[in-house]
Amino acid sequence: MSASLATVSYIGATILFILSLGGLSNQESSRRGNLFGMIGMTIAVLATVFGPQVGAAGIPWIIGAMLVGGAVGLYAARTVQMTQMPELVALMHSMVGLAAMLVGFATFIDPEAAKEFTGSAKSIHEMEIYIGILIGAMTFSGSIIAFGKLSGRIGGNPMLLPGRHWMNLAGLLVVIYFGGVFMESHSIADAMTPVLVMTVIALLFGVHMVMAIGGADMPVVVSMLNSYSGWAAAATGFMLSNDLLIVIGALVGSSGAILSYIMCNAMNRSFISVIAGGFGTASAAPKPAGGTAEPVGEVVPVNATEAAELLREAKSVIIVPGYGMAVAQAQHTVFEITKVLREKGVNVRFGIHPVAGRMPGHMNVLLAEARVPYDIVFEMDELNDDFPATDVAIVIGANDIVNPAAQDDPTSPIAGMPVLEVWKAKTSIVMKRSMASGYAGVDNPLFYKENNRMLFGDAKKMLDEVLTVLKA
Ligand code: TAP
Repeated sequence: MSASLATVSYIGATILFILSLGGLSNQESSRRGNLFGMIGMTIAVLATVFGPQVGAAGIPWIIGAMLVGGAVGLYAARTVQMTQMPELVALMHSMVGLAAMLVGFATFIDPEAAKEFTGSAKSIHEMEIYIGILIGAMTFSGSIIAFGKLSGRIGGNPMLLPGRHWMNLAGLLVVIYFGGVFMESHSIADAMTPVLVMTVIALLFGVHMVMAIGGADMPVVVSMLNSYSGWAAAATGFMLSNDLLIVIGALVGSSGAILSYIMCNAMNRSFISVIAGGFGTASAAPKPAGGTAEPVGEVVPVNATEAAELLREAKSVIIVPGYGMAVAQAQHTVFEITKVLREKGVNVRFGIHPVAGRMPGHMNVLLAEARVPYDIVFEMDELNDDFPATDVAIVIGANDIVNPAAQDDPTSPIAGMPVLEVWKAKTSIVMKRSMASGYAGVDNPLFYKENNRMLFGDAKKMLDEVLTVLKA
């Protein structure tokens, strides 16, 4: 393929990626957005493999690697459960970081690559390598720890080392110092020590940064690592002089940064305080004696028939899905119930919290899969004022996102996080298996409210029973 055709293909792919991001910002256009992304990526891969930068001898190697990588990816995509998606995404981010790191080292030790640059271009190239390995190593180790935390292999409690901010600062200064030594080195052998020291510090920094972040802040970490993986890809693009990789990396990096900002807003947290860590465990804030932290009141359990009666008498219903709906795969039954209620003239709407589930947009994906119409799915802010005029609010496998302690208890680890105010409905029904807490590990006073009913059991099983009664 000629260089000009490859350039035109790259421009086409870039436009498709931008259209893809635009499409993904709205549920109705998201399928089209995905399609644009897939076509763009196919063009990008073909233009790169058959483009001027790859010699004929390299093509069998690339095709072999793509077959192995493609097979692993296909297997993972087919076998992964929807609830394991965030872990898979974290693992994929780690691969981007590892790739940036390895490309950095390969470019660094390649004597031919060094000969291509002279003067200031050589300095810029060396800086690209140094920064590329730095971002790649941080992204790699940070994402591995995020994978461990999201999959429960590593505890959610923040690991707070004494003087941790000073340690980070010292690490940064050492990295800057060795950056200078690296740039001034005259041979690969001389430059090896500074680059190795920097890599070890970057790996440790990635581990330390994510270990210090508490369970409740994990949504921000997921999107933050998404952003880092984009910058790591952009750094790889600079090292390989591949314009398309720079553009895609910048798109992923900046959209991940915007998502992190949205997540921070959704949790009423500042980005700096998330990075500083230590938030999101029950022990993070001491409870004052006699404070409002302990839930008071009685838990009122109901069975499926009683829950169905409440629904049958309702004129307006708001459904709040959470992580438990994803675990139980109850979304299809939820939609069946929605259809039955709507046929009876009930106004049924869905309220989605930005951090419901375990990944951004988790609930929207499940509801779209069950073919719930988009026009009855609302974001938290659009619905929160409507709860007082709602007869029944059903909470399906959600917990933290409907916890009134976020508003009432300043000592709660989730204090200040905006929540769906389901307790303001005439009756709320919470569907879950036990009194266990959610991801943030916090007690939920909602369960003890006078107008709340608990429907204990697996969400799918209980909803099936409710549906049977409603249809009878
Ligand atoms: P959670 O607060 O985690 O609560 C989910 C509830 O579902 C649990 O209390 C659990 O109670 C119940 N459950 C589990 N399996 C169930 C089943 N088969 N049937 C019925 N119920 C079941 O979830 P949420 O309200 O969606 O809030 C999300 C939390 O995850 C937030 O704290 C958020 O910060 C965090 N988080 C979010 C993200 C993103 S990006 N969305 C990423 C990481 C972390 P039982 O065990 O009693 O059934």
